[in-house]
Amino acid sequence: MDLSVVILAAGQGSRMRSQLPKVLHKLANKPLLRHVIDVAEQLSAQEIHIVYGHGGEVVRERLAAHNVSWVKQEQQLGTGHAVAQAVPHLTANHTVLVLYGDVPLITKETLQQLIKQVSGSSMGLLTAELANPSGYGRIVRNSDNAVQCITEEKDASAEVRKITEVNSGILAVQGEQLKGWLTRLKNNNAQGEYYLTDIIAMAVSDGIEVKTSQAVAVEEVEGINNRIQLARLERYYQQQQAERLMAAGVTLKDPARFDLRGTVETGMDVTIDINVILNGEVVIGNSVEIGANCVLTNVVVEDGTVILPNSIIEDAVVGRECTIGPFARIRPDTKLADRVKIGNFVEIKKAQVDEGAKINHLSYVGDSIVGKDVNIGAGVITCNYDGASKHLTEIGDDAFIGSDSQLVAPVKIGAGATIGAGSTITGDAPANQLTLTRSKQRSIDSWVRPQKNK
Ligand code: UD1
Ligand code: CA
Repeated sequence: MDLSVVILAAGQGSRMRSQLPKVLHKLANKPLLRHVIDVAEQLSAQEIHIVYGHGGEVVRERLAAHNVSWVKQEQQLGTGHAVAQAVPHLTANHTVLVLYGDVPLITKETLQQLIKQVSGSSMGLLTAELANPSGYGRIVRNSDNAVQCITEEKDASAEVRKITEVNSGILAVQGEQLKGWLTRLKNNNAQGEYYLTDIIAMAVSDGIEVKTSQAVAVEEVEGINNRIQLARLERYYQQQQAERLMAAGVTLKDPARFDLRGTVETGMDVTIDINVILNGEVVIGNSVEIGANCVLTNVVVEDGTVILPNSIIEDAVVGRECTIGPFARIRPDTKLADRVKIGNFVEIKKAQVDEGAKINHLSYVGDSIVGKDVNIGAGVITCNYDGASKHLTEIGDDAFIGSDSQLVAPVKIGAGATIGAGSTITGDAPANQLTLTRSKQRSIDSWVRPQKNK
């Protein structure tokens, strides 16, 4: 049967103590609600309906790129009321899967298992065994172990409160059956809310069997209500990512000090030292080494490259067998070819650097095309900005730029040219010649250094 997903996201999340709606807080740099939308998309749901609430316009705006339908719940009258808001928008009698915008780590595998429980005569309910079940709805079973109902903690007797099997909130049910039951919900309970959980007893009395299943890991069904829980789930998520990478052949010097906030593809024998953060889409080739405290964002690093500690690389491609850092900053639109060396305190922006070029110390190279085997000395600056526009610096193959020179763009340095140290180059420098603008050195032998008055 086809699938429609309803995601509940109308809650205020006041315990986050935030101006931002709870479901926009980020786990692994991705909004909680987006984790849930992503899993719904992985399940190939035909329809995704998101129930949002007061102040939730910003949620809609932030996640506008997704192909989902937005349903406003004006007042939060309970989980059953929330699902009922989405029901008129369901266009077909699909299986309906109910998820939560603040339960971000639920997996496709767990949900596929749950959805399988749905048939004309049965529904699926995701439960969990908890040593401390307080706060959760309890799963009440009869002597044949068949589910009878869910009782919310606030409505439960002391006896029922002892039950350790709890409701995760996540369930899957046939759409037409769900519609029928929701119209019969009442709010005569301890919280005066329309409980989604009351459909369980209705299912049982209509002869629909409630089949339970459990998540692969209990963290999958954990909701986030405060920043402590958010941090805990973040750590769980990162540990999972670290273990997945190690299983795929990556050496992590300390899996507890590694963060993946996006996706990474890794080759064989990659080594990653402590406190490395990978953001966005990162691709790392074979035998790459990444030193401590590096941050890589949307980067491709090809085979055999070594990135030394404290380097920051963003929107760049780094070729094979390069050496980067320590303390290098490589900014967007940079492409480094093979065997390039970028040393300490060097900033590169929007530059193409060809094979074997070296920029080893304290330089700024921006808006530039740097040829093969070029050697850029210490402290060289491309003056790419005149206060209004950016200009290009082109340096031919095998050129040598002496230390502490400024190349005032737009400017071209010919192949094999040498620029004398300390030059300010404002016009093109011809190939294979020495160009320099240094003023003549002189010494004054009669000069006396001023003395301090004693
Ligand atoms: C609910 C379940 C409980 C389960 C627990 C798991 C009910 C009645 N109870 O309780 O059995 O053990 O989740 O965490 O369903 N929401 C709306 N609109 C509303 C009310 C809630 O969108 O009017 C959303 C909230 O944003 C939240 C989710 O539904 O994401 C759960 O609501 P909450 O009030 O936290 O339910 P619980 O009391 O935790
Ligand atoms: Ca809750």
